[in-house]
Amino acid sequence: MSKHIWLPYTQMQNHLPQLEVVGAKGSKIFLKDGRVLIDGISSWWSMAHGYNHPHITSALAKQAKILPHIMMAGFATEPTYTLAERLCKFTKMDRVFFSDSGSVAIEVAMKISWQFHLNCGAKEKTKFISFKNSYHGDTTGAMSLADLSYGMHKKFQKILLNNFCLDLPKNKNDLDSFEDFVKKNKKILAGIFIEPLVQCAGGMLFHDAKILREIFLIAKKHEILFIADECAVGFYRTGKKFACDHAKITPDILTLSKALTGGAVGLGATLVSKKIFEKFLGDSLDLALMHGPTFMGNPLACAAANASLDLFEQKNYEEKVVEIERFLRSELRNFKNPRVLGAIGAIDIDGDFKKILELRKKFIASGIFLRPFGGCLYLMPALTITKSDLKKITNSITEIL
Ligand SMILES: Cc1ncc(COP(=O)(O)O)c(C=O)c1O
Repeated sequence: MSKHIWLPYTQMQNHLPQLEVVGAKGSKIFLKDGRVLIDGISSWWSMAHGYNHPHITSALAKQAKILPHIMMAGFATEPTYTLAERLCKFTKMDRVFFSDSGSVAIEVAMKISWQFHLNCGAKEKTKFISFKNSYHGDTTGAMSLADLSYGMHKKFQKILLNNFCLDLPKNKNDLDSFEDFVKKNKKILAGIFIEPLVQCAGGMLFHDAKILREIFLIAKKHEILFIADECAVGFYRTGKKFACDHAKITPDILTLSKALTGGAVGLGATLVSKKIFEKFLGDSLDLALMHGPTFMGNPLACAAANASLDLFEQKNYEEKVVEIERFLRSELRNFKNPRVLGAIGAIDIDGDFKKILELRKKFIASGIFLRPFGGCLYLMPALTITKSDLKKITNSITEIL
């Protein structure tokens, strides 16, 4: 293994050896030493259709021969423009700004929100509300939307933007206090960032669609932007196309990544409503969004995303996810604090770091890839996982715990 690589979220002095991978197919990962692992977390929740889906890999190969990349300023390529059309239709949004990852999609959403208010003449509207236990990525803006009261981003508090991290309302009383806060601060508030229905990296914590809808309505009433970060929960992960669909709401801004390309290549998207986009129009460049990542709208990534959309449109993912949900509900019901929504299942475990590392090793030894963190053991498999593979995972959890 290389002495030059720097791994994610890892103490490099004493980390576990990485598993050498030679291939992957569906929910199976093939290791160099001949072992096969069943993947329970689909590469950080992105590989919605399973690894190496032939429809996506052939779209990638075809586009690689035509043109892997050209800059978006000045040039239009078919996959990028087709994806923009299709994605807006699929999400019921109006315009899309492409970038390279979920974190960057969040940065773009923040900048669009600030400038939307600036272009409306509201210079003071610069602060965001986000919620305790939230996670929106690792870049500076995204970190400043995180819950900084604990965890890996806490140490950067002094250098981060000063936003408001509030408790997620749980009932009518909480909603009233939340609305009071919004009312009092509306002059300085730009928007509310939320991971709709499930705060994933914060420990797979669920909230109700009714609460989500009420938060949305409060944002509307007080004219602050409602930004839904569906990087993790979009594309049927919660059972419906988007988590916001459970609450029958359409956000002002929507961020997507991960399953956007079926997990095959990095791509971020920040989608906005017409109301927002139109405020960037005018005779002056000063009104325009001055942002442009080098690889935005990368044709290769967009070809993968178009192929992934083909699959989402052709196959009945709602039905598949209902089956996974039913199965996980039954299999996890006897563990501590079981919670299941769509193709997400989680239980509470002992959060001691050394014990978690031991647990990870035991899962690998039993032919399963899971990555518990904090006090949370969760499953977020490919939406195409077979029942027998899912059963192997839950059996292994039962045996090991
Ligand atoms: C809700 C949410 N937003 C944003 C991100 C950041 O995405 P990326 O890792 O592609 O930067 C993540 C990543 O886990 C996420 O879960």
